Amino acid sequence: MEPSLSMFPVSGSVAKTAVAIVTLVYAWRFFDWVWLTPKKTEKRLRDQGLKGTSYTFLYGDINEIMKSTTESYVEPINLNDDIVPRVLSFAHRVVTTHGKNCFTWLGPTPLLHITNPSMIKEVLGNYQDFQKQRGGNPLARMLAKGLVDVEGDQWVKHRKIINPAFHVEKLKHMVPAFYESCAEMVNKWEAALKEDFTCEMDVWPHLQTLAADVISRTAFGSSYIEGRKIFELQREQAELVVIASRSFYIPGSRLYPPVVAIPRMIHKQTKLGSITLPAGTIMVLHTMLSHHDSDIWGKDVKEFKPERFSQGMSKVTKGQTAFIPFGGGPRVCIGQNFAMLEAKMALAMILRRFSFELSPSYSHAPYTIITLQPQFGAHLSLHKL
Ligand code: HEM
Repeated sequence: MEPSLSMFPVSGSVAKTAVAIVTLVYAWRFFDWVWLTPKKTEKRLRDQGLKGTSYTFLYGDINEIMKSTTESYVEPINLNDDIVPRVLSFAHRVVTTHGKNCFTWLGPTPLLHITNPSMIKEVLGNYQDFQKQRGGNPLARMLAKGLVDVEGDQWVKHRKIINPAFHVEKLKHMVPAFYESCAEMVNKWEAALKEDFTCEMDVWPHLQTLAADVISRTAFGSSYIEGRKIFELQREQAELVVIASRSFYIPGSRLYPPVVAIPRMIHKQTKLGSITLPAGTIMVLHTMLSHHDSDIWGKDVKEFKPERFSQGMSKVTKGQTAFIPFGGGPRVCIGQNFAMLEAKMALAMILRRFSFELSPSYSHAPYTIITLQPQFGAHLSLHKL
């Protein structure tokens, strides 16, 4: 006789019960993830004196983050306006409301915003406990491969291999390549001026090409034309990644580009000063907010006043390590000297041949696509000297 289901009434109900238990376990885990854990974390953070937004089910502050970023990028600002509310609209608002170190919610994940320079320094100095955000946005990972996106022993190995290439002695040999790239750019500007002494030009695409060209020449040597193509593609890819991640990818997305804020992940419960941070917290080290803090730099912080640096960094910041555009600690930007040398050479070569002021067609609209950029270009009135 063939066995039929009715012969195993007990196993049928066992199967149903098993399914019910598994469903219950998953439902409980989900509930724990989206409600109990974030609420517990919120209480722990508040008990330690930190302020922040109240966690709301599943989304946290995601809608607010998206809304304020989108809205702030619609209109340009005036030249004398503070750029921070436009570039970091959400962070600026929460820090103003809840204090310099405060928390918000990227879905059920707590985001801890830090603007205090000594705390930023402490985090950057401890690359074991405060790691780069990994396993996040797969689109962004396509972009950031190599040294930028490895951790632990793998990072130590990579950094050791790459370090010598950025040594000052090696940089000296790159000067002719820097010169070639800068000369190519200023020659193009001269050609655009032709017989005229003045012309209007958006120099932003030229500066982007320069940055890519310098790396192509120094890294790819004689095959730099191919290198240039790779950079062009990478630039397009960066824009697509940012647009795509803004439109549909949320979990763990790289909200803050490293040049305005440095993200770090906490994998196990860790102490920062007197605060105990739960595992799973994302820290956002707001270097840009600390660079615009009048408590550190003085009342004239928003003014363009390069002479503030004339007596050295520690004088102007009263001994604090407050100027950290290239990060700090073991993972400090490896290209810092390279970038500064390039910028100085480009400026010197431009200033020898041209004077300039902002064109009437320039719209002041700083925004971030991986780095801080002029949203509608950098339109100058260029004059031949
Ligand atoms: C003005 C230009 C630049 C700025 C403001 C800048 C800023 C930064 C910052 C803030 C970090 C630290 C990120 C973190 O800790 O998560 C960093 C890391 C890094 N930068 Fe730059 N950077 C610049 C130019 C360059 C250039 C020209 C190169 C290469 C030629 C470069 C290569 C790197 C690499 C490889 C890392 C990762 C280092 C590591 O993890 O060990 N950067 N940069």
